[in-house]
Amino acid sequence: MIPGSSPPSGDAVKTLDRDRLAALMASEQADFVDRHPKAAALHERARRSLLAGVPMNWMVKWAGAFPLYVADASGAHVRDVDGHDYIDFSLGDTGAMAGHGAAPTIAAVERQLRRGITTMLPTEDAIWAGEELGRRFGLPYWQFTITATDANRFSLRLCRAITGRPLVAVHDHNYHGTVDETFAWLGPDGAVESRRGNMGPQVDPATTTRVVPFNDLGALEQVLADRQVAALLIEPALTNVGIVLPEPGYLDGVRELTRRYGTVLIHDETHTICAGPGGVTGRDGHEPDMLVVGKTIGGGIPVATSGMSAAIADRVAAATSLEDADVNGIGGTLAGYALSLAAVRATLGEVLTAEAFERMIPRAERWAAGVDDVLARQAVPWHVTRLGARAEYHFMPTPPRTGAEQWANGDFELERFLHLWAMNRGILMTPFHNMALMSPATSEADVDRHTEVFEAAVRALFG
Ligand SMILES: Cc1ncc(COP(=O)(O)O)c(C=O)c1O
Repeated sequence: MIPGSSPPSGDAVKTLDRDRLAALMASEQADFVDRHPKAAALHERARRSLLAGVPMNWMVKWAGAFPLYVADASGAHVRDVDGHDYIDFSLGDTGAMAGHGAAPTIAAVERQLRRGITTMLPTEDAIWAGEELGRRFGLPYWQFTITATDANRFSLRLCRAITGRPLVAVHDHNYHGTVDETFAWLGPDGAVESRRGNMGPQVDPATTTRVVPFNDLGALEQVLADRQVAALLIEPALTNVGIVLPEPGYLDGVRELTRRYGTVLIHDETHTICAGPGGVTGRDGHEPDMLVVGKTIGGGIPVATSGMSAAIADRVAAATSLEDADVNGIGGTLAGYALSLAAVRATLGEVLTAEAFERMIPRAERWAAGVDDVLARQAVPWHVTRLGARAEYHFMPTPPRTGAEQWANGDFELERFLHLWAMNRGILMTPFHNMALMSPATSEADVDRHTEVFEAAVRALFG
């Protein structure tokens, strides 16, 4: 997700009647307030003790006048304190991709709670996790953190340490968590700038970071050629500005160029694990030097990981001093804690299995086909993109090639209306763009209900 993002509107939504949209939004907002008296009262109370009335600032971005308050969540459904049931296509922005409360994860976590949550010592589950991650992603050595942000930050540090190079490179319109160096984008004149929304940066990211458009190998070669870039950190498909898929050969070209110029290639599969059990990397047989994956691997228990090749592991070992191992800027007291590894073992071993993906991916195909069919019948010039178990509609007639193109065709007002319309009819969409994720528990009926609700929204807007 991208906190603070509000893209401008593009051509494909210019035909929208803005007065009609505003009237519809006002009426949906009134319905939302009417239907949620308990959440309204809790929000009033929250405003007296929580900053902006929420436990974390991005929760203000939900489309209702105030956030829903959750009573319980299970499988692909969430129930709120006002007694409404929701089909959850947001799934905690991937944190709950395994489904809410998957039984094997709960059982493993309950067991581990009684055996010791954190001791600063390894458990055998960690070895199981390293072996399984190696099998899925093709990299032999793994280290665990609490969040994907941490795993990315530590990976960039390791890359600077082993290459002796000062800079990192990322894609334009990336999101890799709250990693300072990545909060950079390309300004209108093509120069690197601090991205919109970046609050209080430590240093100007233009001094730490080079930025390249997605799907542009020429631009990538230009930023790598002087051999100043330690690491290229990428999602193999953009997912945070909206889904932007790699063109055929793009990721192979990225691999070839990073090898040629001695830059460490890091795949961040935190969201793109939706492509299959080994993400895009495993599905298509890519060979990054390092790989990060977080959020879902513990079934909702905080944990993330970074993996590396044997060659990188050797260089890291040579750069690491025993005496300074606790103060080298890579750590976290609870990182690698026993509870998190028990959760990873159960979630990867019994929940997010290859068989689960065989159910989840057809659900996303059905979701995308449903939306596509509505758009065709209503003659609305929008497009649907799918990546494995995740799909998204864009307010433009063709798939975006770059993050900037997707951004230019975004529409914050329209997006909020669609999210609120869905929420008032029992569907949760991620509040950041128009993305739906399937869990192993998502049913065909859940997907078909989305199609129905989406069709009604499109009719209300354009009919
Ligand atoms: C691709 C990617 N990497 C890393 C992160 C950071 O994850 P976390 O917020 O759990 O640290 C995100 C969060 O949305 C992400 O989308």
